[in-house]
Amino acid sequence: MTAKPIAVASDHAGFALKQVLLGHLADLGHKVTDLGTHNGEESVDYPDFGKALAEAINRGDHDTGLLICGTGIGISIAANRHPGIRAALCHDSTSAKLAREHNDANVLVLGGRLIGTEVAKDCLGAFLGTDFGHGRHVRRVEKLG
Ligand code: RB5
Repeated sequence: MTAKPIAVASDHAGFALKQVLLGHLADLGHKVTDLGTHNGEESVDYPDFGKALAEAINRGDHDTGLLICGTGIGISIAANRHPGIRAALCHDSTSAKLAREHNDANVLVLGGRLIGTEVAKDCLGAFLGTDFGHGRHVRRVEKLG
């Protein structure tokens, strides 16, 4: 999907899963940029991390992102407020695959308090391994602005 590093960020509630997935991405040979948070003890605000990741993508130095908060809901709302960001909250690999194929999602969002690590890895693999389907989906994605 991309040769650029994958931007990764979470709040404190997503920190533990972020660390697991950073290791998984490294095992798969992906370059990553870890935008924080850098510990799970200090309570932080998920909009700050959604914004930081959205800005990293909109600067052009990253094409793809991974965001995690407790449910994934708050941080996806935050990211999707930024033009050019299509952040998809997924709980299974089929959703992650279709988010790429139909929606050209550029950010995968996971709920660290809701999803197991193996399912999270499956979601990430499906997301990174699927290309946009183009065709009829192009017009619809363009209408997202
Ligand atoms: C943090 O307690 C929690 O509210 C946050 O991680 C997220 O679930 C919000 O949507």
